[in-house]
Formats: sequence, structure tokens, C-alpha cells
Amino acid sequence: MSVDNLLEHSSIKSDLKLPEQIIQSDPSNFQENFNRSHFMFSHNLAGHPLFEIPRLVELANTILSQGRKNKIQSYVSKVPVQQKWDHRPEIKQMIEAIAHIGESDSWVMLEDVQTDPEYAALLDQIITELEILTGKPLRKEMTWLGAYIFIGSPNSITPYHIDSELNFLFQIQGEKDMSLFNQNDRSVLSEEEIEKFYMGDLTVANYREENQNKASIYHLQPGKGLHHPILAPHWAKNGNNVSVALSILFYLRPYDLKARIYQVNNYLRKLGLEPTPPGKSALRDWVKVFALGLLSDRHPKSKFTILRSGVLRFKSIERKLRQFQHAVRSLKP
Ligand SMILES: [Fe+2]
Repeated sequence: MSVDNLLEHSSIKSDLKLPEQIIQSDPSNFQENFNRSHFMFSHNLAGHPLFEIPRLVELANTILSQGRKNKIQSYVSKVPVQQKWDHRPEIKQMIEAIAHIGESDSWVMLEDVQTDPEYAALLDQIITELEILTGKPLRKEMTWLGAYIFIGSPNSITPYHIDSELNFLFQIQGEKDMSLFNQNDRSVLSEEEIEKFYMGDLTVANYREENQNKASIYHLQPGKGLHHPILAPHWAKNGNNVSVALSILFYLRPYDLKARIYQVNNYLRKLGLEPTPPGKSALRDWVKVFALGLLSDRHPKSKFTILRSGVLRFKSIERKLRQFQHAVRSLKP
């Protein structure tokens, strides 16, 4: 995945027919709640040919022909909600899993589908509409952007997890119930879990049954969408039908910088200190962002390093210092 996947607004050409307006919602909802709290909206993508199963098989074949096999993830669909994301049993026959999704008991994720020009045109229009609805110059602040498609067999479970992206999820076909938690509720998601997540432990969030009553449960049907703020914990259960959903995911520069505060706090906590969470002291936040910024790449080459190049360099320096100390000790007479 590369930061090169940011769209060049004027360079996308496609003859594809898209709805004149995809998202239908009161802009005040987007302006008041953008990345603060989850909310539903309506859209016009249900039944669109881009999301019919034969077209999705063609898309998956395009991704494979581009040598991007790692952009298709395919797993067994019936797993417990507390299953760790990377411990789900994999399915190797991805194309067959999609083509026979009604019976294959599969959960398939196609990543960065905007490498196909028709999906790029769709993504471009959605971002334009989001800029209007939120009143924010999103393209200017974006450091990464991707369109993902989720294809699930009946009764699939998407296990509990947190994400580093802002997410606009469009339910296109089938139904699902999404349990979405408040990212600011520290009884659900602790400061330590967030710190470890930004250090690179992507499966750190643990589902706790006793917290389920704190979730908002959204029933998603074709034509309905849901906004997830960054880090809002969630899990989903499909209905008794095939589910197809589109996720528009992106990073924005101000929130990338917030990740650095959590990373510095992780180090402070290891030193036995009780670090100040972000947002409590503007000065402390600034110092942490600045300090880790000295070690961060100006032009990170992957999605992972956009958020973590500074800590990766710091870990490398720590390792070299330990090797140096070891070498010096071995010289002692
Ligand atoms: Fe997610």
C-alpha cells in the first residue's frame, strides 16, 4: 500500500454511469459528528452494477493480474466475535470464494480497489461529496486513501477490532448488524491499548462480553451507510444473506500527528510514568509530536509507516545502542 494511492482529482476518466448524487444526508450531521461520533446516512449505490458478484469476480481477477495478491484477504466467515483478526483461518481459493459467496462460508476483503478506473471514479465522486457535506478540504489533509469492498457469506462475523482510519461504510447488498463502541470510553478501550496499537500491535483490542451493552447497534440495509470515527471499536454480524459493502477509508494529517503522542506515551509508561493523554495539555502534545517528528519520514512509503516511521527509527536506534553497550562491555578486561 502506498501513499501514491491518493487520487489526482482531474486525472480520472471513466465512462461509468454513477448516481448524480451518491450520499443523501443532512450536512449538519456530517459537520457536527465527523470523526467525533458514529452516525448513519443514506446513499444510492444499492443495486449498482459495480457491486454485482460477477463484476466483483472480475475486479478480484484484475487485482491478481496486477500482482497484488496481498490486497485480497479471504477467511472463513463463521468465527467468534472475540477472534483475533489475524488468527482467522485463511481461504486460499479467493476467486471461487467470491463467485460462490452464497455457499462458500467466506469473508473476503478487496483492498485499494481504486486501481481499477471505474472504482477510482466512484471513490473520487464520494470524496467530492464528503468534502461538501463535511465542509472540510479533505483531499488537502489526506495522507492515505483507500476504497475496500467486503463480501460476506450469510451469517459472517467480522470480529471485534479497532482501525486507524476514518471510515464511511456503504451497505450495498444484504443486511448486517454493526456493534460500534465509543472510542472515547476508556472502560471499553484503554489508553494503554491505544498506545500499543500505534506502536504496531494491530490486534491489541480485546472484546469483553460485559461491555457489549455499551455498544450502539446499527442495522445496516442496502442504501444505508455508517460513519466510524478513528479507533471506534466494532464488530459485525451479517444477516442470513450475502453481504456486499464498500468502505471509504482515509488518514488525515492532524490525526496522524495524534498517533505520535500515543507512541511517546507508550515509552513514558514503560519508564513507570503516568503519561498525559492527548488533548489535555497543548504544550505536552506539541513537544511529543515535535520530538517524534524529528525521527519520522517526510515521505513515508507505506500506510503502516505513515503513522509509525518515527517509532520504527527510534526502535532501530535503541537496538544499535544496546549492541554498542554489549560490545563495550565485552571489551572490559
Ligand atoms: Fe473495521
